[in-house]
Amino acid sequence: MCGIVGYLGQREAYPIVIKGLERLEYRGYDSAGIVLYDGEKAKLCKTKGKVTDLKGKAESENITTGSIGLGHTRWATHGEPNDVNAHPHLSNSGNLAIIHNGIIENYGSIKKELEKRGYTFHSDTDTEVLVNLIEDIKEKEQVKLGKAVQIALNQVVGAYAIAVFDKSKPDEIVVAKLGSPLAIGVGEGEFFIASDASPFIEYTNNAIYLEDEQMAIVRLGRDVKVRQIKDDKSVAAYVQELQLNLDQIEKNGYDHFMLKEIHEQPHAIKDTYRGRLRTNEGIIKMAGIEDNLEKFLNANRIIIVACGTSWHAGLVAEYIFEDLVRIPVEVEYASEFRYRNPVITSKDVVIAISQSGETADTLAAIKLAKQNGAFVFGVCNVVGSSIARESHAGAYTHAGPEIGVASTKAFTTQITLLSLIALKLAQSKGMISKTEFHQYLAEMEAIPDKVEKVLLSDDHVKYISSVYKDVPNFLYLGRGYNFPVALEGALKLKEISYIHAEGYPAAEMKHGPIALIDEQMPVVVIATKKGHYEKVVSNIQEIKSRKGKIIGIVTEGDKEVKSMADYVIEVPETIEGLTPLLTTIPLQLLSYHIAVMRNCNVDQPRNLAKSVTVE
Ligand code: G6P
Repeated sequence: MCGIVGYLGQREAYPIVIKGLERLEYRGYDSAGIVLYDGEKAKLCKTKGKVTDLKGKAESENITTGSIGLGHTRWATHGEPNDVNAHPHLSNSGNLAIIHNGIIENYGSIKKELEKRGYTFHSDTDTEVLVNLIEDIKEKEQVKLGKAVQIALNQVVGAYAIAVFDKSKPDEIVVAKLGSPLAIGVGEGEFFIASDASPFIEYTNNAIYLEDEQMAIVRLGRDVKVRQIKDDKSVAAYVQELQLNLDQIEKNGYDHFMLKEIHEQPHAIKDTYRGRLRTNEGIIKMAGIEDNLEKFLNANRIIIVACGTSWHAGLVAEYIFEDLVRIPVEVEYASEFRYRNPVITSKDVVIAISQSGETADTLAAIKLAKQNGAFVFGVCNVVGSSIARESHAGAYTHAGPEIGVASTKAFTTQITLLSLIALKLAQSKGMISKTEFHQYLAEMEAIPDKVEKVLLSDDHVKYISSVYKDVPNFLYLGRGYNFPVALEGALKLKEISYIHAEGYPAAEMKHGPIALIDEQMPVVVIATKKGHYEKVVSNIQEIKSRKGKIIGIVTEGDKEVKSMADYVIEVPETIEGLTPLLTTIPLQLLSYHIAVMRNCNVDQPRNLAKSVTVE
């Protein structure tokens, strides 16, 4: 987590770095800082809080000039979020400044050694240790900054994306990456450094994405020099042209990114199946699957690894894969999988699902799977991300940038993509009739319009939100394909409104959660016509008899649940396997409106970060 931004060029760095940090706040937002060099002094400004607090402080202290600058927005790992622990950190001499996204695991032993050599430390961070290690090597070995960084990084254990400058050489920034993302924007006579391309997209479309264990010397008037950290060997710098545009990373009139992203879903789902779903030809085209068809068809099982919302998409995929393809599927939390000595064989296909493509646990899980001979297929949103690159093959969801910390369109597009994969495999394996396959394709194509229709219930959902916004607990129930949706609905509410919520399989309610039900407890029940409807209706009766409040997510025209529920939200009818794409939408809106009504920071909920690059 943490967002890093740097600028080196002829313009004032301050506005570029601040704006860049605002765009990266999704990566962490408990403290922020900036360092600028104006030819005389390296001026540092740091504060607990958000980038807007940093802006206020920097402007009141006149720290706004200089054409080389580094900025950081933090999600604390080592040391509580406060002014001192915020980045950037300076070396003891004050010559070197560093920003860092990641963790240096062996910082304790390095710190002790440096203390013996007379270094003092002001913060509790691992990063301050790293910058002093670099300084120590630079002085001891009498080497240039780049070389000192390379030697230092060979001594550290952990993960990092760093940018360092030396104020005695203000035409150069040294950057390096292992495990955390780092992009270098290459402009006309200027360079940008950032955790992703969003801070520099209005200045340049050309970017270099460093690979793990690479570093780069970014110097004015020179091409970027990329080197391998291990052996200092030079590597060709690959400059790629970005497809991103500014509209995709701005709110475009919406109050929050989350709301914008909820409303983008019809479009995003279309973008996911565009070119792949070929209804007229009666086929699904996916090169990543076609090229590796044998791997999938001969697999003993599919293991899905993911975290958070992506794990919920994995659960939906389990249902659809087992239902349509008849391949056994296991869905694992990546963080458990990587440490529990799982049985993995070369007959396993591992699907890693990740919006960011950077989640540390998911990345580690696929590395483990690869070591054990499994075939790894990545389902990512962010193009060129670490998980996408680490996988043997994969497919992108093409949902566009997701900035709201609570994931919305990433979830529905992951389900869309995984459904396409399942359908393609089912067809290749001869497990689905031509008629059923065609029905699925047609229905998939109709989903964006149906999602659009569900979005029309926004005002109604807003009203329901006003009724329940002050309750302390919520329960979400669903069966079959809608059980993972119940989990996702509860997660969304917890994440952004801080109301305690639990998602449960509807029938399991009687084994525990039913004890919680009284007249205060709202229970969101997903009770669509296809999907064990009668059984869910019985569960609703059980809640009713205990005076619980019912919010039903029902199929258009439903009468039975309507007669029992306090409120219902209708969704159009579709094939059972695709219902999560519709039933999820009202749950996203419900959590959004409740959070707004409770004055919560919807896009940046406390303690969370969009991209979790630490374990
Ligand atoms: C964080 C985010 C979640 C996300 C999870 C997995 O916790 O706040 O929204 O679902 O990471 O992220 P990934 O990028 O791997 O899907």
